Amino acid sequence: MRPKTLTAIIGGTGLTQYPGLEIEREELIDTPLGAPSAPLIFASLHGQPVVFIARHGHPHKFPPNKINYRANMLALQQVGVTHIIAVNAVGGITPAMGAEAICIPDQIIDYTFAREDTYFDGVFKPLDHVDFSYPYDAHLSAALFKAANEIDELVQMGGVYGATQGPRLETAAEILRLERDGCTVVGMTGMPEAVLARELGIPYACLTLVVNRAAGKSESVITMDDIYKALEGGVKKVQRIISAFLSQADVS
Ligand code: HPA
Repeated sequence: MRPKTLTAIIGGTGLTQYPGLEIEREELIDTPLGAPSAPLIFASLHGQPVVFIARHGHPHKFPPNKINYRANMLALQQVGVTHIIAVNAVGGITPAMGAEAICIPDQIIDYTFAREDTYFDGVFKPLDHVDFSYPYDAHLSAALFKAANEIDELVQMGGVYGATQGPRLETAAEILRLERDGCTVVGMTGMPEAVLARELGIPYACLTLVVNRAAGKSESVITMDDIYKALEGGVKKVQRIISAFLSQADVS
């Protein structure tokens, strides 16, 4: 029997494995659109059933533009997840978004290109157009924010996620353009994941973790060393928020 709620956690850079899971089994799910990035990990966390997937694979091997997002999301649907928490490392654009800041965005601007970004392509499913005015699930985002507040973890509620193609980082001029567009954080994996969740009808929310100031927003060169340092502390905060969320009675 399937559980009433089944939380999916999509781990990004710095979270290819999720410490603390009581793992029940791992399963490499096949989908009509190919294999997901990694086996799905079925586990329990704070007494709640969860399914974890490493977005980039484990070990980290798929660059953001080569991830089979359609297979990842379809696999999650196939196993019956009821909602999805995506964890994404991002660069911070606005002053409040310094290293280790966490934001729950409420909007997206998509600057990616040439990604398989729909199920409704007339091949896998008939052509269709979904409403995507509000790309993240408001109820799920609010529950994550409430969980963060309950454990006094500072989180910015609301913000605009600018999704760029990668894998290279942006130029300073590109970041200025994103800023003029209203983006508060910039990352490479927010799309098409969010729209695919919408097309599948699965509530989806995102915890973005700032791991560097975006290009041109600090004096220093962006190094992977600095990014990994920010990930170390930041991922623990993200995990604490997810734990608090799962401990809430109403998780769906
Ligand atoms: N830009 C795009 N994606 C990112 C960044 C960035 O600065 N940092 C982490 N992911």
